[in-house]
Amino acid sequence: MNRDKSSVNRRLEGRRALVTGASSGIGRAIALRLAHEGASVAVNYLSNPEAAEAVVKEITEAGVKGIAVQGDVSNEQQVDAMFERAVSEFAGLDILVNNAGMETEHSFLEMPLEAWRKVIDIDLTGAFLCAQRAARVMVESGAGGSIVNITSVHQIIPWGGFAHYCAAKAGLDMMSKTIALELATQKVRVNSVAPGAIATPINQHVWGSPEGLADLKRKIPTERIGQPEEIAKVVAFLCSDEASYVTGATLYVDGGMTLYPEFRHGG
Ligand code: BGC
Repeated sequence: MNRDKSSVNRRLEGRRALVTGASSGIGRAIALRLAHEGASVAVNYLSNPEAAEAVVKEITEAGVKGIAVQGDVSNEQQVDAMFERAVSEFAGLDILVNNAGMETEHSFLEMPLEAWRKVIDIDLTGAFLCAQRAARVMVESGAGGSIVNITSVHQIIPWGGFAHYCAAKAGLDMMSKTIALELATQKVRVNSVAPGAIATPINQHVWGSPEGLADLKRKIPTERIGQPEEIAKVVAFLCSDEASYVTGATLYVDGGMTLYPEFRHGG
C-alpha cells in the first residue's frame, strides 16, 4: 500500500542509490520510494533472491534502473564486491541508505557473546563498512551525496532484552553525526532516521497478535503503528535537495513514541 503515491514527485531524478536490507520491510519501501522519485536503485539482500528480484521488478516498472545485489553487510569482501557492482552498473553513487538490521531477544544475564557480536556486526559494523565505501565514491566524484542511517527509537529508549540492539543503534546514531562532521566540506550529508514501531516482518510476532498490538499502542501517542512508507518518505526527503542544509540530524519517525506517553495526562 502506498497512500502517498499522489504526492510523489521526481525529486531524485537521475540519482543512483544503494539500499541495504531492501528485500523486505522498511528497506523495501525505501527502495521503491526512491525509484518512484526517479532514482536508480541497487537492492541489497542477504538470503532471499526472489524477494529482492520482486523489488527490482517494481523498480524497473517505475521506469528507472534496478539491480539486486547479494551481500552480508558485515563481511568486508562482500561489501566491496557489492559496491563495485553497483558503482559500475550505475557509473557512480549518490545515495546510500543503511537499513539492514536484525534483533534477537536475550535477557542481559543470559546473552551469549555470539548473539551480542552478531547484532553489533550487522547493525553497526555493517553500516560502517557500507558508509565508508559509499563516502569514498561520493568524495572521489567531487559531487558528494547523501547517506541515511536507519536507527531506532531504541537509540534512546532502553529496551529490556535487547542490550545489543540498543547499543548498536545508539552507536550508529553517533557514528552518523561524526561522519556528518568529517564529510561536511566534501558535500556528503549524513543523517539518521529513527523509526518507532513499524509494521514489518521484524516485529510481526508482536503486532500480529491482538494483545501485542494493544501493548504497542499504549506506548504510542498516536495510537497506531506506522507503515514502512511513512519511513520511506522521510528518507526520500533527506536524500533530496530539499534537505540540502540538513546534516548530522536525527529524525524520529515514531508517532510520538519518544514523548514519554505515560505522562500524557499529567498527575
Ligand atoms: C524494533 C521493533 C520495535 C520498535 C518499537 C524497533 O527498533 O525493530 O521490533 O517494535 O523498535 O519498540
